[in-house]
Amino acid sequence: MAKVGIIMGSTSDLPVMQEAIDILKGFDIEIEVDIVSAHRTPEKLFDYGKNAHTRGISVIIAGAGGAAHLPGMVASLSPLPVIGVPVKSRNSIDGWDSVLSILQMPGGVPVATVALDGAKNAGILAAQIIGTSDACVLDKIMVYKEGLKQKVINSAKEISK
Ligand code: RP5
Repeated sequence: MAKVGIIMGSTSDLPVMQEAIDILKGFDIEIEVDIVSAHRTPEKLFDYGKNAHTRGISVIIAGAGGAAHLPGMVASLSPLPVIGVPVKSRNSIDGWDSVLSILQMPGGVPVATVALDGAKNAGILAAQIIGTSDACVLDKIMVYKEGLKQKVINSAKEISK
């Protein structure tokens, strides 16, 4: 079964990245979670980027804050799709630094960047990518989306009482 690799630059990113972990577990998708720092463990980053696809990983979610080079560097090394999560970390000025470091990639090396601290959407997007070739995951995403719709319908009913 397809696996999602979730990496982050520091354990301090975990409270944000936990949302990707939780949503993917909810879809029963296998995950592999690791800390890989572009600046503090560059050799590990290189090894991860070069080899993730050989371990059955299909999509990589990479979260980092401040001078957030992890997602882009992994994308430069890996043939897999990379989803970047900008994290508003303690070394972020206001979060824009993380967003722009991950978003503004050069042509040829895409990183699908979600919103600041948007790890939940990163998890959903990873599941949707896997769902294109896994009918069971696709079904779960349709059920999830139906749940979102029903929640709004129920809230609208409540508010109009
Ligand atoms: C980034 O620096 C990490 O991704 C984290 O968001 C930020 C701060 O790291 P720590 O100083 O908390 O380890 O590389």
